Amino acid sequence: MVIKQVRIIDPTDNRDEIGDLYIRAGEITHGPIETDGPVIDGRGLTAFPGLIDLHVHLRDPGMLHKEDIHTGTMAAAAGGFTSVACMPNTRPLLDTPETIAYVNERAKTAHARVFPIGAVTVGQNGQALTDFAALKSAGIVALSDDGEPIDSATLLRRTLQIAKHLNLPIMNHCEDREMVQNHGVNEGIVAEKLGLPGRPAVAEVIQVARDILLAQDTGAHLHFCHISAAGSVELIRRAKADGIPVTAETCPQYFTLTEDALLELGALARVNPPLRTAADRDAIIAGLIDGTLDTIVTDHAPHAMEDKMVPIPQAQSGMIGLETALGLALTFLYHTDKLDLLSIARLMSYNPARILNLPYGTLQPGSPADITLFDPHETWTVEPENFHSKSRNTPFGGMMLRGRVRYTICDGVVRYGVER
Ligand code: DOR
Ligand code: ZN
Repeated sequence: MVIKQVRIIDPTDNRDEIGDLYIRAGEITHGPIETDGPVIDGRGLTAFPGLIDLHVHLRDPGMLHKEDIHTGTMAAAAGGFTSVACMPNTRPLLDTPETIAYVNERAKTAHARVFPIGAVTVGQNGQALTDFAALKSAGIVALSDDGEPIDSATLLRRTLQIAKHLNLPIMNHCEDREMVQNHGVNEGIVAEKLGLPGRPAVAEVIQVARDILLAQDTGAHLHFCHISAAGSVELIRRAKADGIPVTAETCPQYFTLTEDALLELGALARVNPPLRTAADRDAIIAGLIDGTLDTIVTDHAPHAMEDKMVPIPQAQSGMIGLETALGLALTFLYHTDKLDLLSIARLMSYNPARILNLPYGTLQPGSPADITLFDPHETWTVEPENFHSKSRNTPFGGMMLRGRVRYTICDGVVRYGVER
């Protein structure tokens, strides 16, 4: 296969130039060579190393009416993602080698690479640790109790000590549970208008502070899930300056929306941690610009419509994101001149590969041919009814975005493609 006259963006060597990309036997190779596969006209398109989302919920096993590995990875491919790491809050949970083996088996016929994340505690109940070594042998790339914060500092410290030896990152969902016994709405003016109790930003920040201390104490790699609050960004910025081994992610909803979305969209905008204020959103953007936040993930959290078309207190938390993430990043960060294309490729491909120790996120010759081809200027309207995901719970329906995926190539195979 050859992609001709495409704008090649590779953070590995800060490459940004028009050229041809040659692919042979599933690998990127030095050209020019004879190829027998398809020729893609890349004029007007941009090539990133395949996007990597290290935080998705595929709901498989056990909640197949919301999503499964097949539909979740179709959504991933349609969104430009060649790799996803899936969270363990399935039924049963991914807390045994057997459930990890199930995901890996299903992943063989998926539309993107799937990397399971193992649960930290058995049943995600915050009590007994799972068998990290056995889970690692079964193929996990990280450990997390996402959805459930790890309450006990002692337990998290022990977790970090063991995970360090196994070279596994710990991904923590930071919210002080005692402070957030309510419904995916930020504490403040919007919660008051809605007459609901809110989740304060400090519930996130206080656990980020604690976790930084534990990462420093143990020297283990701690990764912060879905950072939403300005205070967290500030603490992570300082921790990195101090050389503490932390990394962090945020999601499109936190750099595009504020708590006001709840007034308009109701439960579609309910998510944990909650959408916050304009000042928080601006701090998230500043964190993406200066590298405090390492990666943009979706936290793709499919829910059935009957769990969302209900009053906020009765709804489930979470929103899907695989099919809108690149368009949102390009519209809100690139076309607003906040970030260049190399930075977006770093945030959505190069950095997440490094965080999970995966050999992707690069377009260097000899690397697996995982490539996302997109038209950075094409405008389109988000139509949830046309999503590949089984679920429709997005707050972005009807929004006009600028920048659209054209081809997703994984291991040299076109997994998604739209002709112009
Ligand atoms: O809103 C959320 N939904 N936050 C999480 O951390 C978990 C997720 C889910 O699994 O639905
Ligand atoms: Zn979470």
